[in-house]
Amino acid sequence: MFNQLQAVAPDALLKLIVQFSQDSNPNKVDLGVGVYKDELGNTPVMQAVTAAEHKILENQQTKSYIGPAGSALYCELSAQLLFGKDHCVIRDKRLSIVQTPGGCGALRMAAEFVNFCTPGASVWVSTPTWVNHIPLLSEAGLNLKEYPYYDNQSQSVDFAAMLSTLENAEEGDLVLLHGCCHNPSGADLSNEQWQALTKLILSKNLIPFIDIAYQGLGDGLDEDAYGLRLMAQSVPEMIVASSCSKNFGLYRERTGTLVIVSSNAQRAEISTSQLYSTVRGHYSMPPAHGAAIVETILDSSELNQLWLDELGNMRKRLSDNRAALVNAITATGTARSFEFINSEKGMFSFLSISPEQVIRLKNDYSIYMAGSSRINIAGIAEHNVQYTANAIADVLKQS
Ligand code: LMR
Repeated sequence: MFNQLQAVAPDALLKLIVQFSQDSNPNKVDLGVGVYKDELGNTPVMQAVTAAEHKILENQQTKSYIGPAGSALYCELSAQLLFGKDHCVIRDKRLSIVQTPGGCGALRMAAEFVNFCTPGASVWVSTPTWVNHIPLLSEAGLNLKEYPYYDNQSQSVDFAAMLSTLENAEEGDLVLLHGCCHNPSGADLSNEQWQALTKLILSKNLIPFIDIAYQGLGDGLDEDAYGLRLMAQSVPEMIVASSCSKNFGLYRERTGTLVIVSSNAQRAEISTSQLYSTVRGHYSMPPAHGAAIVETILDSSELNQLWLDELGNMRKRLSDNRAALVNAITATGTARSFEFINSEKGMFSFLSISPEQVIRLKNDYSIYMAGSSRINIAGIAEHNVQYTANAIADVLKQS
């Protein structure tokens, strides 16, 4: 059976991690995979997380099974973080919530759930979107369609093209949206654009499917959830997949949340039973540790404040890094403007350079980024920003 298998190329983003670690150039710069980094290039454990882990170790009574939903407290607090405590979907008991193995687990369980409801349902994804959206959704059986999103020429969202393409969507189609900090472009919808999109989704009976993996790393926890909260109060049904990888720095702990919003409390109970069955048929129940950390933090005013402060510092560093990179590139005198990077949010932006220029930056300067020219803004630091800017200016000159 296995003899017929063909080798598959490793995931391009994950391959960058290995290539970077094997590069002996002391000036190397890692702008590849999307993990937060500090000035020294480390991805530290947040202090709130370490404090929560101590608390958990002291108080833990059992490691017995917990069930497909994971921790009830985690699910409740996660929903409050996403929707805001007083949101009508919480008050009206319209939510089915499960703790998932990371944001990927949430996305895949959402896809399995949808495919159970409507086999082969269509889901519209942005061009471009996060590369792993494609296998996570399509391998569950969903039919992927694309809407234009980021325009490389204007380096901004082509909202008119997005809307006019979604006019062709059919009733019951899902629209995958990045809640904030669009991966890979960093270009987000404005509040007015969220409002216009909500109208279109309502008028065409589409179902929003919001992936929010960077809440708190754009403008703030509440600000980043604007679109999600607006849609939730407007539409009868929607899906939200969230991740604690970035905003709690819990990457390898695989901690995420899937929320199905149903039209009323009675329908929500049925959705919940079906969602539990979907989870049980895949991984039975989620790992506990990451979620225990998150609920310990969110449930303690002291740890919550510590986490908010740390998250605020991360957010500020990302936005400072954007400004530092733009200033450093401008200082090289290069003709092309990179000012657009300052208006983008979160961890990513495109440099909008060619694949050949991306390869040259890697081979000649040991600067690593995704082949699409997506850079991880967190990889910029005081000690490498001018080196990076000069290298970018050099490869632009050579072309
Ligand atoms: C990224 O886009 O770099 C991250 O979300 C990490 C991943 O798993 O791809």
